[in-house]
Amino acid sequence: MKMTRTVFVTGGAGYIGSHCIVELLKADYDVVVIDNFTNSVGVCDGESAALKRVEEITGKKIHFYKVDLLDKDALYGVFQKHQIDCVIHFAAMKAVDESIEYPLLYYKNNLIGMLNLLEVMTDHKCYQLVFSSSCTVYGEPEECPVTENHATGRNITNVYGKTKYFVEEMLQDISYSDEKWNIIALRYFNPVGAHPSGLIGEDPTKPFSNIMPFISQVAIGNKPVLTIFGGDYDTVDGTGVRDYIHVMDLARGHVAALSLLFKKHQKIKVYNLGTGRGVSVLQLVKAFEKVTNMTVPYQIAERREGDISIMYANAELAEKELGWTAVHSLEDMCADFWRWQKMNPQGYRTKDIKLNNSH
Ligand code: WQD
Repeated sequence: MKMTRTVFVTGGAGYIGSHCIVELLKADYDVVVIDNFTNSVGVCDGESAALKRVEEITGKKIHFYKVDLLDKDALYGVFQKHQIDCVIHFAAMKAVDESIEYPLLYYKNNLIGMLNLLEVMTDHKCYQLVFSSSCTVYGEPEECPVTENHATGRNITNVYGKTKYFVEEMLQDISYSDEKWNIIALRYFNPVGAHPSGLIGEDPTKPFSNIMPFISQVAIGNKPVLTIFGGDYDTVDGTGVRDYIHVMDLARGHVAALSLLFKKHQKIKVYNLGTGRGVSVLQLVKAFEKVTNMTVPYQIAERREGDISIMYANAELAEKELGWTAVHSLEDMCADFWRWQKMNPQGYRTKDIKLNNSH
């Protein structure tokens, strides 16, 4: 009788996935990872720098396969090699602006990839799934804080967000058609920060669009100025408001979701993973400057196409049913991201960083 549970993680070499695997290994799960490396950096001889550092941090080994979800045969082959108890599905393309420019690429990768995964899971009688969803499924919220009952699928302003919504609809349908499915969808708000060791963090391979890497690149001197998109929103200081959540809090949320799945069969449940606090762009910049003692010169420009004005979570359901709450402050998020950035000025391409497992 296999005692350790095996979790299959798609997209585990990425930012959220790698941080989540640290917590899974700490919780004594056996972890099998696939990644096609489109979003992960520092790949050398077919290995991901991020996953090697996860092994350093935890002192544990990961089963890794370079597999694309669009290659259904290869995916099937990995399932044949391991007795998978549950799947956490991160693998998806996630750049908002790129998704507007290349919709077919996003629908193919995010939807066909999901379909392949669900079919291979069914072939192997594996019906336990945690899905990485996003608050973008709410579109422009009618009111904040947003609860899980808020309408989804209306005025979603980008293809990336639509793929998250469509997958959630797929999962609702399969859990209705076959009672064996036991699914949790986690709607992330804005993940920022890095593991406190500074060994893993957010290292977008492509020109990134999200705020924290931009702030950090300006602070470190790689970019001259931060452009703040919009200073005329109906918010505390006119700049956009979001619910920034520490990536380690997010990772712990996944371990809490797994525990619930293994304890209780619920067909499908959705939970917000946020802090419940709305923070403006200017407030984030000020917090970053205070924590790091760096200055972040900025200019306020026009609003960015597709941006919503305010989004922050009501996270009470996750607290009640997952026994999970976010514990890290905005200052922790800034300090941990900055440590990662200083230790890795070129992200995972940074050479001669000394790896040790004292974390
Ligand atoms: C946050 C705030 C911008 C950059 C999207 C996805 C979400 C997740 C994160 C994948 C907004 C402002 C940003 C800049 C700025 N994606 N901003 N200058 O758009 O809330 O969420 O990315 O996991 O699912 O929807 O995040 O970080 O791009 O923007 O002023 O250079 O920062 O206008 O108010 P967003 P973001």
